[in-house]
Amino acid sequence: MNIPFSKVPLAGNEQAYINEVLASGWLTTSSKAMNFEKQFAQFVGARFACAVNSCTSALHLAVEAIGISKDDKVLVPSLTFTASAEVLRYIGAHPVFTDVEYDTRLISPEILKNAIFRNPHVRAIILVHYGGLAPVMTTPEREGILDICRFRGIRVIEDAAHAFPTKYDNQYIGSFGDATCFSFYANKTITTGEGGMLVTNDEEIYNRVKIMRLHGINRDIWSRFTDKSSSWEYDVVAPGFKYNMPDINAAVGLAQLEKASYFRSERQRCAEFYLRELGDIPCLDLPVFNGSMEDHSWHLFPLVLKPESPVTRNDFISQMANKGVGTSVHYKPLHRMTYYKETYSLDEHAFPNTEKIWKGTVSIPIYPGLDQQELTYICQTIKEILCGPADVKYT
Ligand SMILES: Cc1ncc(COP(=O)(O)O)c(C=O)c1O
Repeated sequence: MNIPFSKVPLAGNEQAYINEVLASGWLTTSSKAMNFEKQFAQFVGARFACAVNSCTSALHLAVEAIGISKDDKVLVPSLTFTASAEVLRYIGAHPVFTDVEYDTRLISPEILKNAIFRNPHVRAIILVHYGGLAPVMTTPEREGILDICRFRGIRVIEDAAHAFPTKYDNQYIGSFGDATCFSFYANKTITTGEGGMLVTNDEEIYNRVKIMRLHGINRDIWSRFTDKSSSWEYDVVAPGFKYNMPDINAAVGLAQLEKASYFRSERQRCAEFYLRELGDIPCLDLPVFNGSMEDHSWHLFPLVLKPESPVTRNDFISQMANKGVGTSVHYKPLHRMTYYKETYSLDEHAFPNTEKIWKGTVSIPIYPGLDQQELTYICQTIKEILCGPADVKYT
């Protein structure tokens, strides 16, 4: 067996749409990117969408557009990819790292309240929908994360790199916070190779992001080169960035979007198998979720090996690799990364749940097309490593 950690399903209209772009002779941002934006916004139920070349760019644009500036403080969970925090440093703002809940690996309303109590001047939060699960966004008692932030005037940027398509309370992630940023990196739930999307219901944020994603120019390239009625002329109204999504990538994105619901249900099928097969291994904690299986994008299936596990996480990964099963780790927390640790003098003891997760966490394969034989083999291998051959049960 050779089962990679991730695999891109590309059997739809990807090739056909790429060919259309090549035939058009226009390889950078134009009709495919605009169509992708329109379809994506419709899918998640948001007013505006801006296609960009990564989720990192989307996060940078979001932070800039809501007016975060030098020396501002922004809450970020430590259990995330560096992009969630690094975009703050681009503009001289500072991440204030928080712990997460052990079970869900998300910021909870209690953790948020505590963090605000200790840092009353935070201006925003970068809310990470870890693994594809949304945290408690809002409750009838107004005690959800959005409620707490709105009450205190804290802006909410959602890092939804893992969360397409994810729902909270029957509504897709994409229209809760001030801006929501998705990733279409090669291993994400839908991909454009490299790419991202910023969605928002706020027209001011949208207008700023549209300008800043392309050099701060006041008109998009497509209209500059194709609008026969007006001249070549354009103005630069701000020192912007070069973050637009080329049409070749958008072509792949459009084809992937057509299959997004099917892909999600395929990942759910894998998750259901794992939950059933691995649920009674005493030294293993499985992902916990509130809400229904359908609300979760199931981008990741992260296990935690408890301290009583007979092997360390790193030995587990080596043994899985020796048996032909790819795994990954999400994440070595940012408070352990040299740059953040040294810049902010971070202490592991301030992140007890994140530490507990980090010491045992390992993510196993979960993607469309992972078949029953492969799923069975993965579970059998895990049981052999953690329980020994005698305890292996097959269903
Ligand atoms: C939580 C999180 N945020 C942001 C990113 C950055 O995404 P991109 O590679 O599209 O910039 C990633 C990428 O893996 C991620 O996992």
